[in-house]
Amino acid sequence: MDYPFDAIVVGAGGAGLWAALELAREGVNTAVLTKLYPTRSHTGTAQGGVCAALGNLEEDHWEWHMFDTVKGGDYLVDQDAAEVLAREAIETVIELEHMGLPFNRTPDGKIDQRRFGGHTSNYGEAPVRRACFAADRTGHMILQTLYQQCIKHGVRFFDEFGVVDLLFDGGEPGAGGRAAGVVAQRLADGELHTFRAKAVLLATGGFGRMFRITSNAHSLTGDGVALCYRHGIPLQDMEFFQFHPTGIVGIGILLSEAARGEGGTLLNDLGERFMERYAPKLMELAPRDMVSRAMYQEIRAGRGIGGKDYLYLDVRHLGRKVIEEKLPDITDFARIYQGVEPLTEPVPVQPTAHYAMGGIPTNVSAEVTRDEKSTVVPGLFAAGECACVSVHGANRLGTNSLVDLLVFGRRAGRQMARYAGGVERPRPIPNAVEPVRAELEAIRARPSSGESAAAIRTELQAEMMDNVGVYRDGKLLTAALAKVRELEARHDRISITDCGSVFNTELIEARELGYLLDIAHVTVSSALARTESRGAHSREDYPERDDKKWLKHTLAYRGTDGPTLRYKDVSITRFEPKPRTY
Ligand code: FUM
Repeated sequence: MDYPFDAIVVGAGGAGLWAALELAREGVNTAVLTKLYPTRSHTGTAQGGVCAALGNLEEDHWEWHMFDTVKGGDYLVDQDAAEVLAREAIETVIELEHMGLPFNRTPDGKIDQRRFGGHTSNYGEAPVRRACFAADRTGHMILQTLYQQCIKHGVRFFDEFGVVDLLFDGGEPGAGGRAAGVVAQRLADGELHTFRAKAVLLATGGFGRMFRITSNAHSLTGDGVALCYRHGIPLQDMEFFQFHPTGIVGIGILLSEAARGEGGTLLNDLGERFMERYAPKLMELAPRDMVSRAMYQEIRAGRGIGGKDYLYLDVRHLGRKVIEEKLPDITDFARIYQGVEPLTEPVPVQPTAHYAMGGIPTNVSAEVTRDEKSTVVPGLFAAGECACVSVHGANRLGTNSLVDLLVFGRRAGRQMARYAGGVERPRPIPNAVEPVRAELEAIRARPSSGESAAAIRTELQAEMMDNVGVYRDGKLLTAALAKVRELEARHDRISITDCGSVFNTELIEARELGYLLDIAHVTVSSALARTESRGAHSREDYPERDDKKWLKHTLAYRGTDGPTLRYKDVSITRFEPKPRTY
């Protein structure tokens, strides 16, 4: 079937929902496609808060938030974008409050705020209370609030429709083509449909599933990111992937940084607050790249708990009231998944793959760009984790993911409405679904003795975790590149045992694995080329930041034998790069 709309939003997390809401408010005929149900989107798992310099508890200014974001990102942040983020964080949080989001409150009724890693007063002086929160369920509340607003404004939802291709009118993006819609597969019966539109937003989230231990849901396979890459749009800064310090050991589910924001501490096997050695001023509230590296150092030095590969998060001293009112979910997670009682016992934690700083390049209006000059792909937009605007640079600060998706989701919706008002809807594209249909049929037709998607995925995740994780070097990355190439070749021979069409998850997962492989290849190649250490990209063979050579964004284009790399300038408006200490 061919569905004509004026705007299509792919993904129903915070960025997609806010964009859809703006479009609906402007009277644009909009559909949201999601491979899940909207309220199952990954924004719902964001826990600790959303930063905005409201200054409800102590002095704060958006300039301080901007500075922390730039320094936190190890100066690879585009500062024009960071300024937009820090300024508009304030009005988006207030707007969410007016939509009815149930924030925790101060005794005098204001939105309560707490500390988070790398957020400081007066350009680095001391931690500041900037994170607005709803207990440790902030993302869940944002998702519910925005979904209710979308329903109220008549947004049309296509649930359990997975996007499998992007459509362009007048040629591919590199040849000046404009976005014309998407091809989507209805999961219930496997049918392929086209959704035509003047404006298309990709808000498909991250791709943490390329790692073995991750906080990311199974659905986070980078679909929108990989589809852009396959259509000749470069991927930006993919070498920067964040490991969150406090994941549940072995399974990676998050225990929010809010625990440390409320005063929780990290301890090694000797009972020491080891962060004293690595970030004496901010301690446990240093940015995540630093805390994760410190944890690895402790483990390597044999000071992991019982000599093992984890440490302790201790919240016992916070007391029952704080824990029950401010950290109820994560303390339950510790009870359920680890059998540990946080009121009386320290909780075992280890770094978990959490967030992609890189992604689809965009400008501050969420328009996708395709080269060093930031040439716009008409009609194509991206926002949220799949996009790289770039407000996170080499390392994102905690809570800035929610700020990013709110600020740039809202901007995307507004810009899409303006754009859609000025162009004609694209005509139907003949045979638009055929390339994907042929690909899916080829997988189905292979004898079931071929390669297994599950086995390839397991090997990919282990390789990425072991060789492309918190610490990297040329040898490990070269080995990872060879492994990814081997897995790509095996993926071409993949076969499945379920040949039906109803909820054929085996077929869907085989395809999603292809996206993860593309993204892993770009990540490894970009990391191998960047011979310096910056933010989350920490190379033991090149331990220093090298601004002379590397103060630039990577752009990875799909080539015939893997990615081709080009580079783009960083926008520096207010803060010159300085050594980064905390
Ligand atoms: O720790 C957390 O609550 C996660 C927040 C974030 O990634 O921004």
